[in-house]
Amino acid sequence: MSEYETHEYDVVVIGAGGAGLRAAIEAAREGAKTAIICKSLLGKAHTVMAEGGAAAALGNADDRDGWKTHFKDTMKGGKYLNNWRMAQIHAKESADRVRELEQWGAVFDRTPKGLINQRNFGGHTYPRLAHVGDSTGLEIIRTLQEKGIHSGVDVFMEYTVTHLLQDDDTTCTGCVAYNRVDGAMHAYSAKSVILATGGITRCWSICSGSWEYTGDGHALALNAGAELIDMEFVQFHPTGMVWPPSVRGILVTEGVRGEGGVLKNSEGERFMFDNVPDMFKGDHAETEEEATEWVRQVVAGEIASVRRPPELLTRDVVAKAINKEVAEGRGSTHGGAYLDIANQRSAEEIIAKLPSMHHQFKELAGVDITKEPMEVGPTAHYVMGGVRVDAETQESTISGLYAAGEVASGLHGANRLGGNSLSDLIVFGKRAGEYAAKRTVGMAQPTIDAVTVEAAIAENLEPLSRENGENPGKVYDELRDMMQAKVGIIRTDADLKTAITDLDDFRQRVTSTSPGPSMVYNSGWHQALDLKNMVDISHACTLAALTRTESRGGHTRDDFPVPDTGMWSHTTNVISKDGDSITIRQEELEQPPEELEQLLDRSKKEA
Ligand code: FUM
Repeated sequence: MSEYETHEYDVVVIGAGGAGLRAAIEAAREGAKTAIICKSLLGKAHTVMAEGGAAAALGNADDRDGWKTHFKDTMKGGKYLNNWRMAQIHAKESADRVRELEQWGAVFDRTPKGLINQRNFGGHTYPRLAHVGDSTGLEIIRTLQEKGIHSGVDVFMEYTVTHLLQDDDTTCTGCVAYNRVDGAMHAYSAKSVILATGGITRCWSICSGSWEYTGDGHALALNAGAELIDMEFVQFHPTGMVWPPSVRGILVTEGVRGEGGVLKNSEGERFMFDNVPDMFKGDHAETEEEATEWVRQVVAGEIASVRRPPELLTRDVVAKAINKEVAEGRGSTHGGAYLDIANQRSAEEIIAKLPSMHHQFKELAGVDITKEPMEVGPTAHYVMGGVRVDAETQESTISGLYAAGEVASGLHGANRLGGNSLSDLIVFGKRAGEYAAKRTVGMAQPTIDAVTVEAAIAENLEPLSRENGENPGKVYDELRDMMQAKVGIIRTDADLKTAITDLDDFRQRVTSTSPGPSMVYNSGWHQALDLKNMVDISHACTLAALTRTESRGGHTRDDFPVPDTGMWSHTTNVISKDGDSITIRQEELEQPPEELEQLLDRSKKEA
């Protein structure tokens, strides 16, 4: 019989990024006995990688903004595959959630009138990102962490959740976790469980994601019988570092372009002018003079009367344009593009607005961005796909199991606008916490089934007794390289089919890796367990990518290069697990009601 410690809570939140912390605060405010279980140390979450700001139509920097424009931009950026109700809730509620953060102590940058300042970002019609220099995610985590601790939430740090508990196939009743420091096993009885585990981008070798990002929440949901949607839509942020190799993929905030940064190829051409898709024609500056005037107006703090530069097209468009320049031989020295802010803004402004970027390039690449251009290229940054949730409550298709933030899906459709992630976390984190807590009122504490827990623990311990297998780190690296090569920014039928075969092979290899026998901070053991999730979630992405025979948003098929105006323009891929096999089906996407449809600019529908 295995030893394990038991715990009882009303609400257990898995993950302590922005969504998890905001959910836990709300659950505790509702009176629920609440715990957070997090894989890393509290305060160290991938949320900090959303640097440039939280999108909310406060209208502080441009009073023409409002929730309707934010809704329209989000739907257009998502190529109309968004869950319209989530996009509406998000656009309406994000301003209140940002103001609430300010009341809780977040120190946002200010306009000359003392209001929360807002900057420009790709795909947003007006300056909309409430920001703290280029460290907005960090400030939000700091604020929520302090609020959470003072709300009486219990925290289990450096624990990994490996299994969800269920009392039948349709209801979640808790989870099993292990302590990463000493390997001790824990079982949690919970009336509601909220997944807030973030994303999956460690499945690609060039990514901005931190080590925790192995798709744990996506896999927990899938294994529990919940549905995932939109898994083919992976966001390759256009600007990650490309040099030196040790830092490749680290994020270079879109805030650089929001502050006027321009992209050039090795021939000195500002190539984004030649890469405006039909659906965005007319929205952006068409000459360097117009783009330069826009920067002048932004710097002067004026309301812009000219169109935004094409560098502020949506991320999917900019990433593909950089990829094309490199593929056609016009890339930068180390295979990216040049991003120049030095010739647009003074050194003082750059250091004031982008202090982390200044520091990051100086320390990691020996580049002074006040004097020289940066080298940047696409990096896997975010997955639009994830757990299918109810728009109002964030409950998944398993009752008692909720999801919020990156692990959930629907808001962003085929492509997320920068800045909509931080606002997503606080809007839907709050909702998940509220509804998860409300569900527990009057409910009996679920019983922990010892047989199920022991089976989960046996599965967790099994790698420790394996001998003569491969090092989990080797399988991990090779899996990521394979995904980068075959399920990357540009995809083909042949590559995706080979990737599915490769993943079957990886699934076998994962069952025989040998991490050594120690339970005490054995990172090989942790990796051996993470790998199971990574293979399943990579499979889900690949299968969805193979099935969607068109190019749209974060999914580009070389063999189907344009968006389908027929079925795929209103169809969602739904992934579930049937026994051990991952299956896919298509479902008609619900369309917005007439009063919202009228807000959308569908005349130029092509991506
Ligand atoms: O570029 C950035 O600062 C990232 C923001 C985001 O992903 O929302």
